[in-house]
Amino acid sequence: MRPPAPPRALRLLVVAALALVAAATAAGCGDSHDYYSVEQLMDATNCMECHPQHYQEWSGSMHAYAADDPVFLAMNKRGQEETNGELGDFCVNCHAPMAVRLGLTTDGLNLDEVPQYAKGVTCYFCHSVESVGESHNNDITLATDGIMRGGLSNPVASPKHAMMTSPLVDADNQASSAMCGACHDVVTPAGVHLERTFEEWNDSIFASTDPATHLSCGQCHMKSRTDVAAEVPGLDVPLRQNGVRDHKFAGVDVALTPWPEKEAQLEAIQGDLDPSLLPRLCVVPLEGGRIDYRLDDVGPGHMWPSGAAHDRRAWAEVIAYDADDNVLMQTGVVLDGEDPDPVADPWIWEMRDYVYDADGAPVKYFWEVRQTLTGLLPPSVTRDPSDPRFDHSVTRSWHVNEVFQDIARVTARVFIRPLPFEVLDDLMASGHLTVDVRDQLPTFELAGTELEWRPELADLGGCVR
Ligand code: HEC
Ligand code: HEC
Ligand code: HEC
Ligand code: HEC
Ligand code: HEC
Repeated sequence: MRPPAPPRALRLLVVAALALVAAATAAGCGDSHDYYSVEQLMDATNCMECHPQHYQEWSGSMHAYAADDPVFLAMNKRGQEETNGELGDFCVNCHAPMAVRLGLTTDGLNLDEVPQYAKGVTCYFCHSVESVGESHNNDITLATDGIMRGGLSNPVASPKHAMMTSPLVDADNQASSAMCGACHDVVTPAGVHLERTFEEWNDSIFASTDPATHLSCGQCHMKSRTDVAAEVPGLDVPLRQNGVRDHKFAGVDVALTPWPEKEAQLEAIQGDLDPSLLPRLCVVPLEGGRIDYRLDDVGPGHMWPSGAAHDRRAWAEVIAYDADDNVLMQTGVVLDGEDPDPVADPWIWEMRDYVYDADGAPVKYFWEVRQTLTGLLPPSVTRDPSDPRFDHSVTRSWHVNEVFQDIARVTARVFIRPLPFEVLDDLMASGHLTVDVRDQLPTFELAGTELEWRPELADLGGCVR
């Protein structure tokens, strides 16, 4: 729809104003007519030429993969069938937000026909954010002015796009967490607050205004390095001290099908996971003999795991040996290709969300969930040592009365896997998942959680840490 033409005098004014804007944004370097159109700005491959590092990192991220992930496609398809289409654009609005906004899809069922530039969470999407409404389900309004929002101070004029500073896209500004949070909190159509990373962060010391502890999502997830923000032949782009941010967005998920930058993703995930939890392992004579394993969520700015915590499988493996290395007690020993199994291993300590229907029967998928029971490790929420929540560690104890006297050595460590095999198998069986990605599913061991207890290593309290 076109607005009616303004009277001639006003039209001239508009032309003059536009010329001024163009002169200001082009800031003495070439001609604003070389600017990309909004359509061109939407295509991440057009950014590669001048932002090769940003492009490369992003291209391997789950943001880029979000609408190509076969598990996502299978789950969305099954969800549409099981709800008779009532899911609508609920899922795809976060996994391919540009495709929804451009009217290229209404339900995500035709994503294989949607051009790649509109899939995933793209450069254009984040860098066009104008405002954030509700704190969940991607209630984000995008600007349509083609101005790339960011946080650089005194940016050099880009030959291809205008730019401006925005607190919502400036990782050094706490407001940027609301931008990330808009998609990182999911409230299902049934009203269940299923993914809560933003809310968890909001309740932690990291969201406080205290400069000693406040950290935005981007300050942890987009580490800064000294580099140039753009490489443009003939343009004097400054080296920015700790001013360029990583765009790999490593979490727990990895591409399960051939996809760029997989090794870099795996390495970044491992690097972030390793120091996430601080462990302590004790063997104590209390209650006739007990093994205590304590975990303290010290890395993440939210629960661990977080987000898709109903799909994560994270567990502790604890094994006690006698002097001849015979196993006296074990829990959390999970075989390759199998899920942690609380039926076969009732002592197992799993860290995840449990999800149920209205009758309390366990379910697997977003749209079926009516109740959740959470078993996550909480982050730090207060700096006040007199506050009972100050110690936010979680301890699990195993009674080992019969074998206590024979314990010579105990080992403990934590593992995490993005998804349960049970879900992959179920989606395969129903025909929604058509590629077997079982052997692509990684299992990460958190190196920082690994401890070995021996009497001679323990402190007076019977603990190693
Ligand atoms: C012809 C080169 C060129 C191309 C192509 C290009 N940019 Fe830029 N971009 C620049 C330059 C130069 C800067 C400023 C760098 C500096 O000052 O350190 C910049 C800065 C930015 C910033 C930071 C803005 C701020 O205020 O913090 C963003 C965001 C950005 N570009 C996004 C994009 C996106 C998205 C694309 C692809 C659609 C793209 N650019 C394509 C040259 C380019
Ligand atoms: C999930 C949102 C998101 C996506 C997707 C994204 N960016 Fe960014 N980008 C940011 C944030 C946040 C910053 C930090 C701005 C700051 O603190 O200065 C940033 C910073 C930048 C900067 C400024 C220099 C720097 O590193 O701080 C450039 C240039 C840039 N991004 C380009 C891109 C390009 C090109 C793509 C796609 C290939 C892309 N971004 C994808 C959120 C995103
Ligand atoms: C438009 C919605 C949207 C916005 C905005 C967004 N994300 Fe995401 N993010 C997603 C989706 C969808 C995925 C998961 C894709 C998948 O695994 O299939 C994801 C994945 C991630 C992951 C990897 C999670 C994993 O398990 O591997 C991290 C880390 C992440 N985002 C951080 C951020 C940060 C930091 C910001 C803000 C700078 C941000 N996101 C903004 C939608 C968004
Ligand atoms: C204090 C640093 C810190 C802050 C602040 C922070 N995170 Fe994290 N986040 C981590 C660490 C560490 C992990 C665990 C390592 C990993 O999974 O890669 C993590 C994990 C994640 C994951 C994967 C969760 C999972 O278990 O599947 C997502 C998604 C994520 N963060 C998003 C966010 C968002 C969105 C925000 C802001 C609302 C945020 N983070 C704030 C450090 C932080
Ligand atoms: C509000 C935005 C949002 C909505 C709505 C949403 N997702 Fe996601 N999705 C995300 C984010 C963010 C992540 C990454 C979470 C994390 O790493 O903890 C993710 C991760 C995933 C993953 C990979 C991890 C996992 O859980 O297996 C799948 C698959 C997925 N989503 C499927 C879906 C389906 C199917 C729907 C609809 C029923 C849906 N999503 C709705 C934002 C969303």
